[in-house]
Amino acid sequence: MATVGARVGAAVRGEFPVFEAATYLNSCSQGALSGRVREAVEGWLAGWDENGAEWDFWVERNESFRTAIARLLHASGDDVAVTTSVSQGVSGLVSALDLGGERNRIVISEYEFPTVGQIAHAQELRGAEVVHVRPDADGSIPPERFAEQIDERTALVCCTTLSYRSGHRHDVAAIAEAAHAAGAIVLADSYQACGAIELDVRSLGADAVTGGTVKYLLGTSGLGFMWVRPEVRKRLTPLQTGWFADEDIFAMSIADYSPHASARRFDSGTPPVPSLYPGVAGMELVLEAGVPAIEAHVRTLVDRLLAGLDELGATVATPRGEGERGPLVCVVSTDPNTLVEALAAERIVTSTRDLNLRISLHLYNVEEDVDRILEALARHRALLA
Ligand SMILES: Cc1ncc(COP(=O)(O)O)c(C=O)c1O
Repeated sequence: MATVGARVGAAVRGEFPVFEAATYLNSCSQGALSGRVREAVEGWLAGWDENGAEWDFWVERNESFRTAIARLLHASGDDVAVTTSVSQGVSGLVSALDLGGERNRIVISEYEFPTVGQIAHAQELRGAEVVHVRPDADGSIPPERFAEQIDERTALVCCTTLSYRSGHRHDVAAIAEAAHAAGAIVLADSYQACGAIELDVRSLGADAVTGGTVKYLLGTSGLGFMWVRPEVRKRLTPLQTGWFADEDIFAMSIADYSPHASARRFDSGTPPVPSLYPGVAGMELVLEAGVPAIEAHVRTLVDRLLAGLDELGATVATPRGEGERGPLVCVVSTDPNTLVEALAAERIVTSTRDLNLRISLHLYNVEEDVDRILEALARHRALLA
């Protein structure tokens, strides 16, 4: 097996106390807390007690995070903005688009996270038109569906890398090809992919890639990132900004707006210090394991889960194709909330969206976790469609 010897599965599980008490299958909502991340939070508090404002160390944490994200995405740190959320990054990106003229369309997949859809529709107030791309009957959205909606009026195409609702993984490169042919740029919200699926901005195709640390990056809320392709960034001047996005933070000037030449132009105000400590510690765990090893490990677990679900005759909402899925498997339920509660009563932690039970797997899960939920689902078979 490809993952033997890697820092995944049994080799890292001990760092995550939740497994002493529960079968944790909810990384699509929040990654499990590790001892290392807990220590990082405590370190932030201890430093505050001991030294008061640790400005230099805070700035160092900010830059460590930027560098870690650059490593994760195979990018240069100059092309990575540190944000407080996906919402902040995407709002800044969209604010830089001229949507008042002929090229005023934003094409979004039906699988975007609410924040992306809401930011897109907010642009209607300044002349934008938003077009939705809907899934086929099997739950997939093939690139052709995007191509049908993209033309010379399209400014931006939003195709989340992996759907938080169905687990469907978009073919971002193929979608980007259609978008680029029409002169549009592409945003891939990769929150549900980063840390679990190998993302290489050199081949992904998107012009902006965003995500955050709550889920597969094993940190907390309040911290995110946005990579922006340098050639595209040079044409984009965000109207949403802050002093950390300035070409010289310490100029302290209120006389002009001079955004930084690098992707820092999409940063904002004071860095999210309390989130940076755990954010950097969580990233260390992911990078130590290596995303390719995590992805291979998770694929084995997902295959086992899908085989078991088939034996149960369950209806799986996540498309089956190898490139069409990732760490999240969605199973149709007749009553998803009752099912999540029933599983929680057995100390199996899952979540729900739409009519789906969401089961997500990450580096710390092992085959026994999969077998445990399959046994439980067999007992609750009546709650599966
Ligand atoms: C795909 C996706 N995008 C974005 C977010 C969150 O966005 P923000 O960082 O703005 O809260 C989530 C969180 O659940 C998500 O799953």
